[in-house]
Amino acid sequence: MEKLMIAGGYPLKGTVRISGAKNSAVALIPATILADSPVTIEGLPDISDVQILKGLLEEIGGEVTFADGDMQVDPSAMISMPMPNGKVKKLRASYYLMGAMLGRFNKAVIGLPGGCHLGPRPIDQHIKGFEALGASVTNEQGAIYLRADELRGARIYLDVVSVGATINIMLAAVKAKGRTVIENAAKEPEIIDVATLLNNMGAKIKGAGTDVIRIDGVDQLHGCQHTIIPDRIEAGTYMVLAAASGEGVLIDNVIPHHLESLTAKLREMSVQIEAGDDQIFVGPAEKMKAVDIKTLVYPGFPTDLQQPLTALLTNAEGTSMVTDTIYGARFKHIDELRRMNANIKVEGRSAIINGPMKLQGAKVKASDLRAGAALVIAGLMAEGVTEVTGVDHIDRGYSHLVEKLNGLGATIWREKLTDQEIEQMNNA
Ligand code: EPU
Repeated sequence: MEKLMIAGGYPLKGTVRISGAKNSAVALIPATILADSPVTIEGLPDISDVQILKGLLEEIGGEVTFADGDMQVDPSAMISMPMPNGKVKKLRASYYLMGAMLGRFNKAVIGLPGGCHLGPRPIDQHIKGFEALGASVTNEQGAIYLRADELRGARIYLDVVSVGATINIMLAAVKAKGRTVIENAAKEPEIIDVATLLNNMGAKIKGAGTDVIRIDGVDQLHGCQHTIIPDRIEAGTYMVLAAASGEGVLIDNVIPHHLESLTAKLREMSVQIEAGDDQIFVGPAEKMKAVDIKTLVYPGFPTDLQQPLTALLTNAEGTSMVTDTIYGARFKHIDELRRMNANIKVEGRSAIINGPMKLQGAKVKASDLRAGAALVIAGLMAEGVTEVTGVDHIDRGYSHLVEKLNGLGATIWREKLTDQEIEQMNNA
Protein backbone atom coordinates (compact mmCIF):
# COMPACT_ATOMS: atom_id res chain seq x y z
CA MET A 1 0.00 0.00 0.00
CA GLU A 2 1.21 3.46 -0.88
CA LYS A 3 0.55 7.11 -0.12
CA LEU A 4 1.10 10.18 -2.25
CA MET A 5 3.46 12.85 -0.93
CA ILE A 6 2.94 16.32 -2.37
CA ALA A 7 5.19 19.29 -1.72
CA GLY A 8 2.98 22.34 -2.31
CA GLY A 9 3.83 25.61 -3.95
CA TYR A 10 5.63 24.44 -7.10
CA PRO A 11 3.93 26.05 -10.10
CA LEU A 12 2.84 23.88 -13.04
CA LYS A 13 3.98 24.73 -16.54
CA GLY A 14 4.12 22.88 -19.87
CA THR A 15 1.98 20.36 -21.69
CA VAL A 16 0.05 17.37 -20.38
CA ARG A 17 -1.49 14.69 -22.60
CA ILE A 18 -4.89 13.35 -21.63
CA SER A 19 -5.56 9.58 -21.69
CA GLY A 20 -8.60 7.69 -22.99
CA ALA A 21 -11.85 8.13 -21.08
CA LYS A 22 -12.22 5.86 -18.03
CA ASN A 23 -16.01 5.92 -18.15
CA SER A 24 -15.98 4.92 -21.83
CA ALA A 25 -13.30 2.28 -21.30
CA VAL A 26 -15.28 0.47 -18.61
CA ALA A 27 -18.22 0.09 -21.04
CA LEU A 28 -16.28 -0.48 -24.28
CA ILE A 29 -14.38 -3.44 -22.81
CA PRO A 30 -17.54 -5.37 -21.76
CA ALA A 31 -19.14 -4.43 -25.11
CA THR A 32 -16.55 -6.62 -26.89
CA ILE A 33 -18.32 -9.67 -25.39
CA LEU A 34 -21.09 -9.14 -27.96
CA ALA A 35 -18.86 -9.72 -31.02
CA ASP A 36 -18.05 -13.04 -32.66
CA SER A 37 -14.52 -12.09 -33.77
CA PRO A 38 -11.62 -9.97 -32.37
CA VAL A 39 -12.23 -6.33 -31.40
CA THR A 40 -9.38 -3.85 -30.96
CA ILE A 41 -9.79 -0.77 -28.76
CA GLU A 42 -7.05 1.82 -29.08
CA GLY A 43 -6.00 4.47 -26.56
CA LEU A 44 -7.27 2.89 -23.34
CA PRO A 45 -6.05 4.51 -20.11
CA ASP A 46 -3.52 2.66 -17.95
CA ILE A 47 -5.72 2.46 -14.84
CA SER A 48 -6.65 -0.33 -12.47
CA ASP A 49 -10.31 -0.48 -13.61
CA VAL A 50 -9.11 -1.45 -17.11
CA GLN A 51 -6.82 -4.16 -15.71
CA ILE A 52 -9.67 -5.58 -13.59
CA LEU A 53 -12.01 -5.74 -16.60
CA LYS A 54 -9.29 -7.43 -18.66
CA GLY A 55 -9.07 -10.09 -15.94
CA LEU A 56 -12.86 -10.51 -15.93
CA LEU A 57 -13.00 -11.07 -19.71
CA GLU A 58 -10.23 -13.67 -19.34
CA GLU A 59 -12.21 -15.41 -16.58
CA ILE A 60 -15.08 -16.02 -19.00
CA GLY A 61 -12.75 -17.39 -21.70
CA GLY A 62 -11.80 -14.27 -23.65
CA GLU A 63 -8.33 -14.03 -25.14
CA VAL A 64 -7.09 -10.57 -24.28
CA THR A 65 -3.85 -8.73 -25.00
CA PHE A 66 -3.17 -5.22 -23.69
CA ALA A 67 -0.06 -3.19 -24.47
CA ASP A 68 0.59 0.56 -24.88
CA GLY A 69 -3.08 1.40 -24.43
CA ASP A 70 -4.31 -0.97 -27.15
CA MET A 71 -6.45 -3.93 -26.16
CA GLN A 72 -7.38 -6.79 -28.43
CA VAL A 73 -10.20 -9.03 -27.28
CA ASP A 74 -11.06 -12.28 -29.01
CA PRO A 75 -14.49 -13.08 -27.55
CA SER A 76 -15.20 -16.15 -29.72
CA ALA A 77 -14.53 -18.74 -26.99
CA MET A 78 -16.29 -16.88 -24.15
CA ILE A 79 -18.85 -18.71 -22.05
CA SER A 80 -21.55 -17.40 -19.73
CA MET A 81 -19.79 -18.17 -16.49
CA PRO A 82 -21.48 -16.95 -13.28
CA MET A 83 -19.48 -14.19 -11.56
CA PRO A 84 -21.20 -13.66 -8.21
CA ASN A 85 -18.02 -12.72 -6.33
CA GLY A 86 -14.38 -11.79 -6.77
CA LYS A 87 -13.19 -9.03 -9.09
CA VAL A 88 -16.73 -7.90 -10.08
CA LYS A 89 -17.11 -6.44 -6.60
CA LYS A 90 -14.13 -4.15 -7.16
CA LEU A 91 -15.66 -1.74 -9.60
CA ARG A 92 -19.02 -0.15 -10.19
CA ALA A 93 -18.87 -0.63 -13.93
CA SER A 94 -18.92 -4.42 -13.65
CA TYR A 95 -22.67 -3.87 -14.06
CA TYR A 96 -21.99 -3.56 -17.81
CA LEU A 97 -21.23 -7.29 -17.80
CA MET A 98 -24.95 -7.77 -17.08
CA GLY A 99 -26.11 -6.09 -20.30
CA ALA A 100 -23.32 -7.50 -22.45
CA MET A 101 -23.62 -11.11 -21.23
CA LEU A 102 -27.41 -11.00 -21.34
CA GLY A 103 -27.16 -9.65 -24.91
CA ARG A 104 -24.82 -12.44 -26.02
CA PHE A 105 -25.87 -15.48 -23.97
CA ASN A 106 -29.43 -14.58 -22.83
CA LYS A 107 -28.22 -15.18 -19.26
CA ALA A 108 -25.78 -13.79 -16.70
CA VAL A 109 -25.00 -13.96 -12.99
CA ILE A 110 -23.09 -10.92 -11.78
CA GLY A 111 -22.30 -9.85 -8.21
CA LEU A 112 -23.65 -6.46 -7.17
CA PRO A 113 -21.11 -3.81 -8.16
CA GLY A 114 -18.60 -1.98 -5.94
CA GLY A 115 -16.93 1.33 -6.88
CA CYS A 116 -16.89 4.75 -5.23
CA HIS A 117 -19.12 5.25 -2.20
CA LEU A 118 -21.11 8.35 -3.13
CA GLY A 119 -24.26 7.57 -1.16
CA PRO A 120 -27.00 5.25 -2.51
CA ARG A 121 -26.38 4.15 -6.11
CA PRO A 122 -29.35 2.01 -7.13
CA ILE A 123 -29.53 0.06 -10.42
CA ASP A 124 -33.33 -0.12 -10.62
CA GLN A 125 -33.39 1.58 -14.05
CA HIS A 126 -30.96 -0.99 -15.48
CA ILE A 127 -33.21 -3.76 -14.19
CA LYS A 128 -36.36 -2.06 -15.49
CA GLY A 129 -34.72 -2.02 -18.94
CA PHE A 130 -33.65 -5.68 -18.86
CA GLU A 131 -37.13 -6.74 -17.76
CA ALA A 132 -38.76 -4.68 -20.52
CA LEU A 133 -36.58 -6.60 -23.01
CA GLY A 134 -38.01 -9.87 -21.68
CA ALA A 135 -35.45 -10.94 -19.06
CA SER A 136 -36.31 -12.18 -15.61
CA VAL A 137 -34.11 -10.50 -13.01
CA THR A 138 -33.66 -11.69 -9.44
CA ASN A 139 -31.32 -10.70 -6.64
CA GLU A 140 -30.04 -13.82 -4.89
CA GLN A 141 -27.57 -13.38 -2.03
CA GLY A 142 -25.99 -10.23 -3.40
CA ALA A 143 -25.79 -11.35 -7.02
CA ILE A 144 -28.10 -10.43 -9.89
CA TYR A 145 -29.42 -13.39 -11.91
CA LEU A 146 -30.62 -12.55 -15.43
CA ARG A 147 -32.33 -15.04 -17.74
CA ALA A 148 -34.33 -14.71 -20.96
CA ASP A 149 -35.68 -17.22 -23.49
CA GLU A 150 -35.47 -14.49 -26.07
CA LEU A 151 -34.80 -10.75 -25.86
CA ARG A 152 -37.36 -8.61 -27.66
CA GLY A 153 -37.17 -4.90 -28.44
CA ALA A 154 -39.25 -2.61 -26.21
CA ARG A 155 -40.00 1.04 -25.50
CA ILE A 156 -38.27 2.00 -22.24
CA TYR A 157 -38.72 5.32 -20.48
CA LEU A 158 -36.00 5.96 -17.88
CA ASP A 159 -37.46 7.51 -14.72
CA VAL A 160 -34.00 8.80 -13.82
CA VAL A 161 -31.50 10.00 -16.43
CA SER A 162 -28.76 7.41 -15.96
CA VAL A 163 -25.52 6.92 -17.88
CA GLY A 164 -25.15 3.34 -16.68
CA ALA A 165 -28.75 2.32 -17.43
CA THR A 166 -28.65 3.90 -20.90
CA ILE A 167 -25.47 2.02 -21.85
CA ASN A 168 -26.53 -1.24 -20.22
CA ILE A 169 -29.86 -1.25 -22.08
CA MET A 170 -28.05 -0.54 -25.36
CA LEU A 171 -25.75 -3.52 -24.69
CA ALA A 172 -28.67 -5.85 -23.97
CA ALA A 173 -30.78 -4.57 -26.88
CA VAL A 174 -28.36 -4.59 -29.84
CA LYS A 175 -29.03 -8.28 -30.57
CA ALA A 176 -32.67 -8.36 -29.39
CA LYS A 177 -35.47 -9.08 -31.88
CA GLY A 178 -37.00 -5.88 -33.24
CA ARG A 179 -36.74 -2.26 -32.19
CA THR A 180 -35.86 -0.83 -28.78
CA VAL A 181 -36.46 2.82 -27.97
CA ILE A 182 -34.84 4.35 -24.88
CA GLU A 183 -36.60 7.56 -23.86
CA ASN A 184 -35.16 10.09 -21.41
CA ALA A 185 -31.76 8.58 -22.18
CA ALA A 186 -28.55 10.10 -20.81
CA LYS A 187 -26.57 12.18 -23.34
CA GLU A 188 -22.98 11.91 -22.06
CA PRO A 189 -20.19 11.66 -24.68
CA GLU A 190 -19.29 8.20 -23.34
CA ILE A 191 -22.70 6.95 -24.55
CA ILE A 192 -21.92 8.13 -28.08
CA ASP A 193 -18.53 6.41 -27.85
CA VAL A 194 -20.09 3.08 -26.88
CA ALA A 195 -22.76 3.41 -29.60
CA THR A 196 -20.00 4.13 -32.15
CA LEU A 197 -18.13 0.95 -31.18
CA LEU A 198 -21.33 -1.11 -31.31
CA ASN A 199 -22.28 0.35 -34.72
CA ASN A 200 -18.77 -0.45 -36.01
CA MET A 201 -19.44 -4.01 -34.82
CA GLY A 202 -22.58 -4.05 -36.99
CA ALA A 203 -25.25 -2.77 -34.59
CA LYS A 204 -27.99 -0.37 -35.68
CA ILE A 205 -28.16 2.40 -33.07
CA LYS A 206 -29.44 5.88 -33.86
CA GLY A 207 -29.77 8.93 -31.63
CA ALA A 208 -26.96 8.30 -29.12
CA GLY A 209 -26.14 11.68 -27.57
CA THR A 210 -29.81 12.73 -27.65
CA ASP A 211 -32.49 11.76 -25.17
CA VAL A 212 -34.15 9.26 -27.53
CA ILE A 213 -32.07 6.30 -28.71
CA ARG A 214 -33.43 3.82 -31.27
CA ILE A 215 -31.87 0.39 -31.61
CA ASP A 216 -32.83 -2.09 -34.33
CA GLY A 217 -31.68 -5.54 -33.23
CA VAL A 218 -29.29 -7.52 -35.45
CA ASP A 219 -28.46 -11.26 -35.38
CA GLN A 220 -24.69 -10.97 -35.30
CA LEU A 221 -21.97 -8.53 -34.33
CA HIS A 222 -18.44 -8.77 -35.67
CA GLY A 223 -14.97 -7.57 -34.69
CA CYS A 224 -13.67 -4.10 -35.53
CA GLN A 225 -11.17 -1.45 -34.50
CA HIS A 226 -12.15 1.54 -32.36
CA THR A 227 -10.30 4.51 -30.87
CA ILE A 228 -11.60 5.68 -27.51
CA ILE A 229 -12.49 9.35 -26.83
CA PRO A 230 -10.26 11.40 -24.49
CA ASP A 231 -11.18 11.56 -20.81
CA ARG A 232 -13.10 14.79 -20.23
CA ILE A 233 -12.95 14.36 -16.45
CA GLU A 234 -9.18 13.83 -16.42
CA ALA A 235 -8.85 16.86 -18.73
CA GLY A 236 -11.11 18.90 -16.45
CA THR A 237 -9.04 17.87 -13.44
CA TYR A 238 -5.87 19.18 -15.13
CA MET A 239 -7.68 22.39 -16.08
CA VAL A 240 -8.53 22.90 -12.42
CA LEU A 241 -4.97 22.02 -11.38
CA ALA A 242 -3.63 24.54 -13.88
CA ALA A 243 -6.00 27.21 -12.56
CA ALA A 244 -4.93 26.35 -9.00
CA SER A 245 -1.20 26.62 -9.40
CA GLY A 246 -0.24 27.01 -13.03
CA GLU A 247 2.01 29.36 -14.95
CA GLY A 248 0.40 28.43 -18.27
CA VAL A 249 -0.54 24.80 -18.97
CA LEU A 250 -1.51 23.29 -22.32
CA ILE A 251 -3.88 20.34 -22.07
CA ASP A 252 -3.49 18.16 -25.12
CA ASN A 253 -5.76 15.47 -26.63
CA VAL A 254 -9.11 16.86 -25.50
CA ILE A 255 -12.49 17.55 -27.10
CA PRO A 256 -13.07 21.13 -25.87
CA HIS A 257 -16.81 20.87 -26.58
CA HIS A 258 -17.06 18.18 -23.85
CA LEU A 259 -15.68 20.65 -21.31
CA GLU A 260 -17.80 23.72 -22.06
CA SER A 261 -19.57 23.79 -18.69
CA LEU A 262 -16.24 23.77 -16.81
CA THR A 263 -14.64 26.27 -19.21
CA ALA A 264 -17.58 28.65 -18.67
CA LYS A 265 -17.32 28.36 -14.87
CA LEU A 266 -13.54 28.84 -14.82
CA ARG A 267 -13.91 31.92 -17.05
CA GLU A 268 -16.56 33.24 -14.66
CA MET A 269 -13.92 32.84 -11.93
CA SER A 270 -11.53 34.98 -14.08
CA VAL A 271 -9.34 32.09 -15.22
CA GLN A 272 -7.93 32.72 -18.69
CA ILE A 273 -8.77 29.86 -21.07
CA GLU A 274 -8.17 29.42 -24.79
CA ALA A 275 -9.71 26.44 -26.53
CA GLY A 276 -8.29 25.07 -29.81
CA ASP A 277 -9.33 22.05 -31.89
CA ASP A 278 -8.00 19.36 -29.57
CA GLN A 279 -6.16 21.40 -26.95
CA ILE A 280 -7.06 23.78 -24.13
CA PHE A 281 -4.64 26.35 -22.75
CA VAL A 282 -5.13 27.54 -19.16
CA GLY A 283 -3.34 30.82 -18.43
CA PRO A 284 -1.30 31.65 -15.33
CA ALA A 285 -3.17 31.44 -12.02
CA GLU A 286 -4.39 34.84 -10.86
CA LYS A 287 -6.89 36.18 -8.35
CA MET A 288 -10.10 34.21 -8.74
CA LYS A 289 -13.72 35.12 -7.96
CA ALA A 290 -16.14 32.89 -6.06
CA VAL A 291 -18.90 31.21 -8.12
CA ASP A 292 -21.96 29.03 -7.49
CA ILE A 293 -22.17 25.63 -9.15
CA LYS A 294 -24.94 23.09 -9.52
CA THR A 295 -24.07 19.66 -10.93
CA LEU A 296 -26.41 18.40 -13.64
CA VAL A 297 -26.54 15.65 -16.25
CA TYR A 298 -24.56 16.34 -19.45
CA PRO A 299 -24.17 18.97 -20.87
CA GLY A 300 -24.55 20.51 -17.40
CA PHE A 301 -21.69 20.76 -14.93
CA PRO A 302 -20.44 17.18 -14.21
CA THR A 303 -20.67 15.79 -10.70
CA ASP A 304 -17.26 14.18 -11.29
CA LEU A 305 -15.64 17.65 -11.40
CA GLN A 306 -17.52 18.98 -8.39
CA GLN A 307 -14.94 17.69 -5.91
CA PRO A 308 -11.86 19.00 -7.79
CA LEU A 309 -13.54 22.38 -8.22
CA THR A 310 -14.39 22.61 -4.51
CA ALA A 311 -10.67 22.43 -3.75
CA LEU A 312 -9.95 25.26 -6.20
CA LEU A 313 -12.73 27.45 -4.78
CA THR A 314 -10.93 27.57 -1.40
CA ASN A 315 -8.58 29.97 -3.19
CA ALA A 316 -11.29 32.19 -4.72
CA GLU A 317 -12.34 35.55 -3.26
CA GLY A 318 -15.80 35.41 -1.63
CA THR A 319 -18.40 32.76 -0.86
CA SER A 320 -19.10 29.92 -3.31
CA MET A 321 -21.93 27.42 -3.12
CA VAL A 322 -21.51 24.00 -4.75
CA THR A 323 -24.69 21.91 -5.00
CA ASP A 324 -24.61 18.30 -6.16
CA THR A 325 -27.99 17.30 -7.59
CA ILE A 326 -26.69 13.91 -8.84
CA TYR A 327 -25.03 12.53 -5.67
CA GLY A 328 -26.25 14.51 -2.66
CA ALA A 329 -23.67 12.85 -0.37
CA ARG A 330 -20.58 13.33 -2.55
CA PHE A 331 -18.88 15.51 0.06
CA LYS A 332 -16.48 13.19 1.87
CA HIS A 333 -13.55 15.30 0.64
CA ILE A 334 -14.77 18.30 2.64
CA ASP A 335 -13.65 17.01 6.06
CA GLU A 336 -10.21 16.36 4.60
CA LEU A 337 -10.02 19.84 3.04
CA ARG A 338 -10.94 21.25 6.45
CA ARG A 339 -7.92 19.46 7.94
CA MET A 340 -5.91 21.51 5.48
CA ASN A 341 -7.39 24.74 6.85
CA ALA A 342 -10.21 25.22 4.31
CA ASN A 343 -13.25 27.14 5.49
CA ILE A 344 -16.12 24.98 4.16
CA LYS A 345 -19.39 23.79 5.59
CA VAL A 346 -21.87 21.29 4.21
CA GLU A 347 -25.59 22.03 4.31
CA GLY A 348 -27.75 19.27 2.79
CA ARG A 349 -26.65 18.76 -0.82
CA SER A 350 -24.48 21.90 -0.83
CA ALA A 351 -20.98 22.87 0.24
CA ILE A 352 -20.42 26.51 1.16
CA ILE A 353 -16.85 27.64 0.69
CA ASN A 354 -15.45 30.86 2.10
CA GLY A 355 -12.24 32.02 0.47
CA PRO A 356 -9.54 32.82 -0.11
CA MET A 357 -7.86 30.64 2.48
CA LYS A 358 -4.23 29.55 2.41
CA LEU A 359 -4.26 25.77 2.65
CA GLN A 360 -1.73 23.96 4.86
CA GLY A 361 -0.21 20.55 4.13
CA ALA A 362 -1.74 17.75 6.25
CA LYS A 363 -2.30 14.00 6.40
CA VAL A 364 -5.52 13.32 4.51
CA LYS A 365 -7.40 10.35 3.11
CA ALA A 366 -9.02 9.92 -0.31
CA SER A 367 -12.42 8.30 0.23
CA ASP A 368 -13.17 7.96 -3.49
CA LEU A 369 -11.65 8.69 -6.88
CA ARG A 370 -12.57 12.34 -7.37
CA ALA A 371 -12.12 13.11 -3.66
CA GLY A 372 -8.55 11.94 -4.25
CA ALA A 373 -8.20 14.35 -7.18
CA ALA A 374 -9.51 17.18 -4.99
CA LEU A 375 -6.89 16.41 -2.33
CA VAL A 376 -4.07 16.33 -4.87
CA ILE A 377 -5.17 19.76 -6.13
CA ALA A 378 -5.33 21.04 -2.55
CA GLY A 379 -1.88 19.56 -1.83
CA LEU A 380 -0.35 21.38 -4.79
CA MET A 381 -1.89 24.68 -3.61
CA ALA A 382 -0.94 24.18 0.06
CA GLU A 383 2.04 25.33 2.05
CA GLY A 384 4.22 22.40 3.13
CA VAL A 385 3.83 18.69 2.49
CA THR A 386 0.50 16.86 2.11
CA GLU A 387 0.23 13.09 2.53
CA VAL A 388 -2.69 11.45 0.75
CA THR A 389 -3.69 7.87 1.60
CA GLY A 390 -6.40 5.89 -0.20
CA VAL A 391 -4.28 6.05 -3.37
CA ASP A 392 -5.93 2.91 -4.78
CA HIS A 393 -9.03 5.06 -5.41
CA ILE A 394 -6.96 7.53 -7.44
CA ASP A 395 -5.24 4.74 -9.40
CA ARG A 396 -8.68 3.51 -10.52
CA GLY A 397 -9.12 6.57 -12.71
CA TYR A 398 -6.00 8.70 -13.25
CA SER A 399 -3.42 7.22 -15.58
CA HIS A 400 0.21 8.00 -14.57
CA LEU A 401 -0.84 10.88 -12.32
CA VAL A 402 2.54 11.24 -10.57
CA GLU A 403 4.51 11.15 -13.84
CA LYS A 404 2.16 13.61 -15.55
CA LEU A 405 2.29 16.09 -12.64
CA ASN A 406 6.06 15.87 -12.22
CA GLY A 407 6.33 16.43 -15.98
CA LEU A 408 4.53 19.75 -15.38
CA GLY A 409 6.96 20.75 -12.62
CA ALA A 410 5.14 19.51 -9.52
CA THR A 411 6.95 17.74 -6.68
CA ILE A 412 4.92 14.64 -5.96
CA TRP A 413 6.03 11.08 -5.18
CA ARG A 414 4.79 7.76 -3.85
CA GLU A 415 5.90 6.22 -0.55
CA LYS A 416 5.12 2.84 0.95
CA LEU A 417 2.83 3.01 3.99
CA THR A 418 4.52 1.99 7.25
CA ASP A 419 3.13 -0.99 9.20
CA GLN A 420 1.82 1.46 11.78
CA GLU A 421 -0.02 3.48 9.11
CA ILE A 422 -1.55 0.32 7.65
CA GLU A 423 -2.76 -0.68 11.11
CA GLN A 424 -4.23 2.79 11.69
CA MET A 425 -6.08 2.60 8.35
CA ASN A 426 -7.45 -0.85 9.11
CA ASN A 427 -8.72 0.36 12.49
CA ALA A 428 -10.30 3.54 11.10
N1 EPU B 1 -29.76 6.21 -10.49
C1 EPU B 1 -30.93 5.61 -10.04
N2 EPU B 1 -31.25 4.38 -10.54
C2 EPU B 1 -30.49 3.73 -11.46
C3 EPU B 1 -29.31 4.35 -11.90
C4 EPU B 1 -28.98 5.59 -11.40
O1 EPU B 1 -31.63 6.16 -9.22
O2 EPU B 1 -30.85 2.62 -11.86
C5 EPU B 1 -29.40 7.55 -9.98
C6 EPU B 1 -28.06 7.56 -9.27
O3 EPU B 1 -28.19 7.21 -7.91
C7 EPU B 1 -27.60 8.98 -9.48
C8 EPU B 1 -28.15 9.33 -10.85
O4 EPU B 1 -29.19 8.39 -11.11
O5 EPU B 1 -28.18 9.83 -8.55
C9 EPU B 1 -27.15 9.24 -11.98
O6 EPU B 1 -26.48 8.00 -11.95
P1 EPU B 1 -25.87 7.31 -13.26
O7 EPU B 1 -26.53 5.99 -13.45
O8 EPU B 1 -25.87 8.26 -14.40
O9 EPU B 1 -24.38 7.05 -12.77
P2 EPU B 1 -23.48 5.82 -13.12
O10 EPU B 1 -23.75 5.38 -14.51
O11 EPU B 1 -23.53 4.80 -12.06
C10 EPU B 1 -21.59 7.23 -14.19
C11 EPU B 1 -20.11 7.41 -13.95
C12 EPU B 1 -19.89 8.20 -12.67
C13 EPU B 1 -20.61 9.53 -12.78
C14 EPU B 1 -22.10 9.32 -13.10
C15 EPU B 1 -22.85 10.61 -13.33
C16 EPU B 1 -19.28 5.35 -14.88
C17 EPU B 1 -18.62 4.05 -14.66
N3 EPU B 1 -19.51 6.10 -13.81
O12 EPU B 1 -22.06 6.50 -13.07
O13 EPU B 1 -18.49 8.42 -12.62
O14 EPU B 1 -20.48 10.23 -11.57
O15 EPU B 1 -22.21 8.50 -14.28
O16 EPU B 1 -22.32 11.29 -14.40
O17 EPU B 1 -19.52 5.75 -16.01
C18 EPU B 1 -16.45 8.89 -11.60
O18 EPU B 1 -15.95 8.83 -12.73
O19 EPU B 1 -15.83 9.30 -10.58
C19 EPU B 1 -17.83 8.45 -11.42
C20 EPU B 1 -18.36 8.18 -10.24
